[in-house]
Amino acid sequence: MENNREQWSSKASFILAAAGSAVGLGNIWKFPYIAGENGGAAFLFIYLICILLIGLPILNIEILLGRATKKNPVGAFKTLTNNPFWKYVGALGVLASFTILSFYSVVGGWSLAYTYEALIGTFNTPAFNTPLTAGDFFNLKNSNPLWVLGYHTLFLSIVVLILLSGVRAGLEKASKFLMPILLFILLILVVQGLILPDANKGVSFLFQPDWSKINGQTILLALGHAFFTLSLGMGAMMTYGSYLSDNDDIVNASYLVAFLDTVIAILAGVAIFTVVFSSGYDPTAGPGLVFHVLPPLLSDLTGGYFFAFLFFLLLSIAAITSGISILEVSVAYLVDEKQYSRKKAVLIMASMVYLVAIPCALSFNLLSDFTFSFQDKAFTFFDIADYLASNILLPFGGFFLAVFAGYVWGIDEVVRNLLIGESNSIYFGNTVFENKKFKSFFNFTVKYICPVLIFLVFLYSIGWI
Ligand code: PFF
Repeated sequence: MENNREQWSSKASFILAAAGSAVGLGNIWKFPYIAGENGGAAFLFIYLICILLIGLPILNIEILLGRATKKNPVGAFKTLTNNPFWKYVGALGVLASFTILSFYSVVGGWSLAYTYEALIGTFNTPAFNTPLTAGDFFNLKNSNPLWVLGYHTLFLSIVVLILLSGVRAGLEKASKFLMPILLFILLILVVQGLILPDANKGVSFLFQPDWSKINGQTILLALGHAFFTLSLGMGAMMTYGSYLSDNDDIVNASYLVAFLDTVIAILAGVAIFTVVFSSGYDPTAGPGLVFHVLPPLLSDLTGGYFFAFLFFLLLSIAAITSGISILEVSVAYLVDEKQYSRKKAVLIMASMVYLVAIPCALSFNLLSDFTFSFQDKAFTFFDIADYLASNILLPFGGFFLAVFAGYVWGIDEVVRNLLIGESNSIYFGNTVFENKKFKSFFNFTVKYICPVLIFLVFLYSIGWI
């Protein structure tokens, strides 16, 4: 085991960084619109079950694999088994990190761009009178390749600057500084949402389930999103876990990270739906909810200039703290496996992501007609990257993680390792894990529920069921 590997300076730092990875565009951009399209509370309910049954066990396992081996995903599997197959599963994570960042960085760029537009008061101009005109503004801006590429470059440069400083001075400091700001802004937005007229309609949309809305698709969507939102299936949590010391606990940290991530998604839902419902708008606006619907609604409020700016700043911060964790997977791979210096690894991987992301950025202008059809839909490069990562690579990675923990490493070994770390054994050793019922529950979810459900999602996402 390497001694010179950087480590988080405290358990709290790890929790903040892991929560920073989990809380991202998935919580603030994606969760509200997919909940909006799929029945609000009914979707939320299924999503919570997926987090508990599948997200939490896999989160524990990912962090554990990192902490136990102190390696990137490829190295972690290489350390634990001689079977070369698993090394390719780790490599899949490195590939997923490229694919996700290539579209994530474009949306991160939009968030930065809208923070700037909010700052210069664009949302108070006639272009933002209605969501329809705001949509035209968004499309017009995106039709300029230099605009999209410029903001994508800015986003990636911020990620690179943070990563160049290393684990403690970069990843840890950025999360410690940015996460409290994120929470603070979100709370301001929630309070302003709740005092709007008819805010209760937005709240009940999120909390009063309409069970008729639940169908196979809702379940599969919720499961896929549980993976994306907890940063699971591609080794991001494994890489962050590799910077933990053996004394740090994993079980408590996983609970906290999943809890923070879920609470933040729900709060973002409250902040957004109270505004949408109090203005009488449709919550099912889809991916444009945040960029088309919200700016005109927010800017109509008293103090709207300020709230719109805060909202896009929040979105940008969330995207940055997740973006750094995505790129860190490939950086750790080059540093551990190819013995590159951190600086060289960051610059090489960022340049590669930059190139891969260009077709995604051009999907809204020069390459918008360059589409591939699949399941009767036309997919641009951007859509392909999103689809491939969220619906194929992440669930695939999660499936193999569960199989590895349940059948290759073995549940006894997983539980024995999980109990290493001070408070794990104090809180969980004597109570939860030594309680046979819990261990058999853990065994059952990891060995059967996770692989079977994930496999179903996978079949669904490639259109086979
Ligand atoms: N969890 C992030 C979000 O919700 O936006 C996205 C993400 C980060 C996915 C890191 C995967 C990952 F490894």
